[in-house]
Amino acid sequence: MYDFMFHVPTKIYFGRGQISHLAELSDFGQKALLVYGGGSIKRNGIYDEAIRILTHAGIEVVELSGVEPNPRIETVRRGVGLCAREGVDMVLAIGGGSTIDCAKVVAAGARYDGDPWDLVLDGSKAASALPIFSVLTLSATGSEMDAFAVISDMSKNEKWGTGAECMKPTMSVLDPSYTFSVSPKQTAAGTADMMSHTFESYFSMDEGAYVQKRLAEGLLGTMIHFGPIALAHPDDYDARANLMWAASHAINGLVSDGCSPAWCVHPMEHELSAFYDITHGEGLAILTPAWMEHVLDAQTAPLFAAYGCNVWGLSGVDDMKVAREAISRTRAFFVEAMHLPATLREVGITDEKNFEVMARKAADGCKGSFVALSQDDIVEIYRAAL
Ligand code: NZQ
Ligand code: ZN
Repeated sequence: MYDFMFHVPTKIYFGRGQISHLAELSDFGQKALLVYGGGSIKRNGIYDEAIRILTHAGIEVVELSGVEPNPRIETVRRGVGLCAREGVDMVLAIGGGSTIDCAKVVAAGARYDGDPWDLVLDGSKAASALPIFSVLTLSATGSEMDAFAVISDMSKNEKWGTGAECMKPTMSVLDPSYTFSVSPKQTAAGTADMMSHTFESYFSMDEGAYVQKRLAEGLLGTMIHFGPIALAHPDDYDARANLMWAASHAINGLVSDGCSPAWCVHPMEHELSAFYDITHGEGLAILTPAWMEHVLDAQTAPLFAAYGCNVWGLSGVDDMKVAREAISRTRAFFVEAMHLPATLREVGITDEKNFEVMARKAADGCKGSFVALSQDDIVEIYRAAL
């Protein structure tokens, strides 16, 4: 196990009605930038509830609305401008990962003397940020409890992840009932995303990180058990609650610290979203089985076999056979149980014309992964997923 520093400063209020804790924001100032997306929080009543609590606590609200799925740098710049003009004390995101990510870079941008795109390209430039709060409405990214944000500049087909200690939220409200209204498509994509976060840490060559691997298997088992239940019964509280808490732990350092190699499926997916603006979790569900098949060999088979035994309940003495079955179960889970797309064609990517350039951009991020991937490997994986 490698040395590491584990630090999650985010106070979590988990459960029904926990939004009342937004009153605590008054400890941090009197003016908040409320960041939200395309309006789901107005349709499901969370907006009204938040405004009522904030007003009662004496907090003035300035709004940044319309944050896009795959949030754009233009929206971040709009938010930074609002913070400066309005003298905002803190940033409150209500929504999914896109909204929270946008809020994080706005909060850091408000304390940065330059264009916030600099912070996307280089997280080390984010030295401080306004206090960040979130009310999570979609279980997927773990942004509510991590240091990361992913922002796009579609004019350049660029989507990059950044991260900084100062971008960890101060407090997040996790009310599983807020996710009852999440669509089947986003529920499935969110489940694929949290599974991919877990895979990215789990599939690493360091054998010493035993406890991280067992924790990861527990999270994966939870996601595989409750994903289909949440699809079939969107208002099943326990299904939504278990998915929500599992998603937070998939990326807050619990399963990655001490064993984390560079991720690789995420850099490959970010290029798909940067060029084709597809839903992140759908891209991951398409690429993951193709990546698993590409990296399966005699050296990696034992870990894939362990995954098969400990997550899928498989057994057998032939690692390669068990590994193949585990990969096939993973694909079937995404496609048959969660109704996610199986191929790039199904999300509108019908030819190879951008594969070389996408692979070149992704390759840097994939060098130190479980199995280091070259540009050619990545093109092959895209082709296999087509
Ligand atoms: O915009 P609104 O109207 O709110 O609708 C959203 C959006 O259309 C809707 N939605 C959210 N909560 C809802 C709801 N609809 C009904 N009821 C609710 N309770 O869902 C749609 C998708 O929302 P979005 O925030 O885009 O989804 P998600 O949470 O999956 O976030 C995806 C973004 O996060 C990045 C991805 O790259 C992508 O840009 N990631 C962030 C990470 C992080 N911060 O650590 C890591 C991830 O790997 C990921 O890359
Ligand atoms: Zn992700």
